[in-house]
Amino acid sequence: MQPVSAIAHANIALIKYWGKAPGDGNLPATGSLSLTLDCFFTQTVIQKSNQDRFILNGIEQTGERLARVQAFLDLVRVKKIACEVISENHVPTQSGLASSASGFAALACAANQFFALGLDNRALSELARRGSGSAARSIFPGLARMHREGYAEGIDARKLDLNMLVVHCSNLEKQVDSRTAMNLTAQTSAYYPEWISSHQADLDDALKAVWHGDFKKLGELTEYSTLKMHASMLAARPAIWYFEPLSWAVMNAVRDWRRQGLQAYFTLDAGPHVKVLCQSNDVGVLKTGLEKIPGVLKVQHAKPGPGAYLLAGHSFREGRV
Ligand code: PMV
Repeated sequence: MQPVSAIAHANIALIKYWGKAPGDGNLPATGSLSLTLDCFFTQTVIQKSNQDRFILNGIEQTGERLARVQAFLDLVRVKKIACEVISENHVPTQSGLASSASGFAALACAANQFFALGLDNRALSELARRGSGSAARSIFPGLARMHREGYAEGIDARKLDLNMLVVHCSNLEKQVDSRTAMNLTAQTSAYYPEWISSHQADLDDALKAVWHGDFKKLGELTEYSTLKMHASMLAARPAIWYFEPLSWAVMNAVRDWRRQGLQAYFTLDAGPHVKVLCQSNDVGVLKTGLEKIPGVLKVQHAKPGPGAYLLAGHSFREGRV
């Protein structure tokens, strides 16, 4: 068995998923719609070894992180072949910037080749989902729709000029992982049932906006979906929030710029960083404005990125984080 290397890019949801369907298989309680980004990716090499090992950014992982990779390999490996998985994350890890999405999508893509599974992209997205719910979407380039049934598909976004400014608001890793936070929200939040029952309409409207090339509508729904998701977490017991004061400062600035006529819409995930959806013409002025907000660490401009792919060699690609 030859070593196999694959790359997958991170994605950020415009219409969020938050919550698991009951039962096994890591199925989401709702669908979702996301944008795969060109600037963040994970490269993963898988090869035979005498024992399971997981090396992330040069550091050997034990405990929960190793166990998660092993459980994933157990889904596909025959005769319990021991594997070494070496990953380089060009995405800040555990900070709400979707490193688990690119990580499990890259691992699924590499495992498909390594174990000669012969999966097509839909089946590959289902496999990636078993590792992390959002990973299914990173199999596809640009816009991807996740279905409640557990697979993702690419969505034609040619009518839209999609850009994202990623505003880094903190260097700290998140306190509560998304799986724990989702479960707590589902079990305790009075708003969770509403989040679930009103979700499909948002997704349908967003898909219509994409179809019509209606950037404004898609942007409005993007903000609405993220705020509704975070509102459901705020009503959990105990409450969960990932915002920092700086996140609010960035969100306020985005709303002010919109009042002045700029087309910009924010979204946040399970971390304090704010991502701003915008169009090419506004990137320059928005990036300059965002960089001036006191405390902002860095602003990165992302365009739609590629789907997951195999690499011919095994040398690690340079990236920007
Ligand atoms: O991929 P997971 O299961 O860690 O969940 C990620 C959830 C959000 O990023 C908050 C929303 C989404 O749809 O990506």
